[in-house]
Amino acid sequence: MKNFSDKLSELGFSRIVAGVWRWGKLPQSQWQILIQQAVELGITTFDHADIYGDYTCEEQFGQVLKANAALKAKCRVITKCGIKLKSAKRPGHRIKHYDTSAAHVLKSAETSLRLLGVEVIDLLLLHRPDPLMNPEEVAEAFYRLENQGKVKSFGVSNFTPAQLEMLQSFLDIQLVTNQIELSLFRYESIFNGTVDVLMKYRMQPMAWSPLGGGRYFTSEETAKSLAITLQQLSEKYHCTESQLLLAWLLTHPSGIYPVVGTTRPERLEEAMGALALTLERQDWFALLKAVAGKDVP
Ligand SMILES: NC(=O)c1ccc[n+]([C@@H]2O[C@H](COP(=O)([O-])OP(=O)(O)OC[C@H]3O[C@@H](n4cnc5c(N)ncnc54)[C@H](OP(=O)(O)O)[C@@H]3O)[C@@H](O)[C@H]2O)c1
Repeated sequence: MKNFSDKLSELGFSRIVAGVWRWGKLPQSQWQILIQQAVELGITTFDHADIYGDYTCEEQFGQVLKANAALKAKCRVITKCGIKLKSAKRPGHRIKHYDTSAAHVLKSAETSLRLLGVEVIDLLLLHRPDPLMNPEEVAEAFYRLENQGKVKSFGVSNFTPAQLEMLQSFLDIQLVTNQIELSLFRYESIFNGTVDVLMKYRMQPMAWSPLGGGRYFTSEETAKSLAITLQQLSEKYHCTESQLLLAWLLTHPSGIYPVVGTTRPERLEEAMGALALTLERQDWFALLKAVAGKDVP
């Protein structure tokens, strides 16, 4: 099925997005290799948050871009704000908490711009639903950032459908995504209305931990039925198990954008290979059955 008006592709986003959350522990030289390799493969969109790497990832990424204008021109950046970590870098934070006040959203976006070394953030997400969120303040911050040309588009992350619709009702700007945890291992949002509401508003979901954070590959407890199904299907489709896990997401008609978290160049290439797969409908359900342990009702 062809995806309806794809706002993320209109923003120039690659269908596979590289998430940098786990890159925080890597040396600067490895950032250079990963960004270069990703862009060469066609993974030109990078998912950040102000807090990744204990507030260090944006700067490490920015250092690579600042040294390479040609690379920078090809990159699209997503970043998030709204979580305040207890960190030596933020001595004022007495406790981990959320802050979606206009003042914090503006300040966070401006800091991200500076550290990332870009003139515009392609997509700014509110990282988590904040119980104290005042939607009028968020609207004010978003309008200012848009009017100043600092942020191109806006979205949310980990929001319920009701939270998303509530915030949207205060905005003239249309939100473009809800970045949610979504994989064959965490598929509830496909069934509980979260993804349906995104489709209703013609927003593409972004899937974080699309491989379930890699636990499947290392856990002893992996369901035998899943291991068998993945093995059979990887033989059938001549692909790897992680490509099948990504293809399972890419098959969904909402147009899911997986945000892969690998720290290895070769696995970025592997992820791109998933785009070439077309899963048969019954195989999609076979994978679901393998994790659910039963047929659909
Ligand atoms: N919005 C949010 O609240 C939120 C929350 C969490 C994450 N995120 C975003 O989502 C991104 C991805 O999350 P994630 O890192 O959990 O995604 P993921 O792609 O599901 O998991 C990546 C992990 O799986 C491992 N892995 C991948 N393929 C493997 C294989 N074949 N065998 C063994 N291990 C394998 C990787 O190890 P290697 O590095 O060794 O390949 C890495 O540790 C993050 O970087 C971040 O940008 C957003």
